[in-house]
Amino acid sequence: MKVLHVVGARPNFMKAAPVHAALVARVAEQLLVHTGQHYDAAMSDVFFRELGLPEPDINLNVGSGTHSVQTAEVMMRIEPVIGERRPDWVLVYGDVNSTAAAALVCAKLGVRVAHVEAGLRSNDRSMPEEINRLVTDQIADLLFTPSDDGDANLLREGIPEARICRAGNVMIDTLVRLLPEARTRGPALRARYALGDRFALLTLHRPSNVDDPRKLAGILDALSDISRDVPIVFPIHPRTRESLRRIEWQAPAELHLTEPLGYLDFLALQADAAVVMTDSGGVQEETTFLGVPCLTLRPNTERPVTVTIGTNILVGDDLAKLRCEARAAVEGRGKRGSVPPLWDGHAGERIADAVLARP
Ligand code: UD1
Ligand code: UDP
Repeated sequence: MKVLHVVGARPNFMKAAPVHAALVARVAEQLLVHTGQHYDAAMSDVFFRELGLPEPDINLNVGSGTHSVQTAEVMMRIEPVIGERRPDWVLVYGDVNSTAAAALVCAKLGVRVAHVEAGLRSNDRSMPEEINRLVTDQIADLLFTPSDDGDANLLREGIPEARICRAGNVMIDTLVRLLPEARTRGPALRARYALGDRFALLTLHRPSNVDDPRKLAGILDALSDISRDVPIVFPIHPRTRESLRRIEWQAPAELHLTEPLGYLDFLALQADAAVVMTDSGGVQEETTFLGVPCLTLRPNTERPVTVTIGTNILVGDDLAKLRCEARAAVEGRGKRGSVPPLWDGHAGERIADAVLARP
């Protein structure tokens, strides 16, 4: 069997690594195609090194652009690759533009495509990722869901049950594998940012939070207040870096701005943080697994189990709630939760088994 994996952006790498590893000794050939949607060393190369993913066989170098340009570039550049290599299965991950573009090409070429992390819905079509999820799930031949809400969403949208496979959360496989190594970095990271026992971690990159300068400035004001209670480490996504440059914001002393971190450093900080504030999808899941309180700066989530079972609280645009919940978490009164079923470090193996069962 020949399997081709498509990755393109930061959150794809930690999802593809366990599936690739689970298939390595079991299929005749695996190909790894990087679309090049993310290309900075800190957004791409570091993950290949740390996660043990092999160098991509092909890099399409699509780079940045509007949604349509980026999606079209992936489609145009990946079409000949899939057409010539004719894999038995193409695996696409998550909800980024590269995911939907590659799935569309496969559907048109009649090459079977499997979607890892299928069925998630925010029901908010203003999110570009929601469009990517809807499109990808409609055309995928096999859909791997991380939790039961995913199955329910797909069935409601008319996806045949036989195509749906509850594999569990593959991103958590990577976390389980690398957490011991990440933990060894804790002391050096605390020293690097001069952190005491309690600190907070922050990520922001959703266009709805960072593209509008007034909205971003309001969020940063609230975070500046919070940093008087607890130091905050803020690895800055390149989209956010551009927005910060435009508003010429000066960070207060206890808000530590830094480049995007590698997986191990970021995981080490998540594991030790008193609270994580974020608009990331994956970080909502990782904090739930780690049992660390998470405050999500979004009005909705496509990962509802992180709220119903896990440690996640949606604060939306309510910055008073953000301040209040951050203080509660720092004082040890943060939300507690448990780990959803099948977030157990073995999702990649279940995905490999299901693919191999369909030669
Ligand atoms: C993309 C995904 C989003 C995901 C995020 C993860 C889509 C629609 N969005 O958003 O779902 O949560 O990745 O991080 O696919 N840039 C760089 N260097 C890079 C990459 C990007 O400087 O290596 C800058 C460019 O100015 C670019 C901007 O960041 O225009 C946005 O990049 P893009 O990939 O379009 O979207 P993200 O916001 O990263
Ligand atoms: N992450 C990282 N370094 C950072 C920020 C995030 O390694 O500086 C990891 C994080 O642990 C998770 C993934 O990136 O595994 C989430 O990706 P991101 O937030 O970019 O995308 P989303 O999940 O929102 O699509």
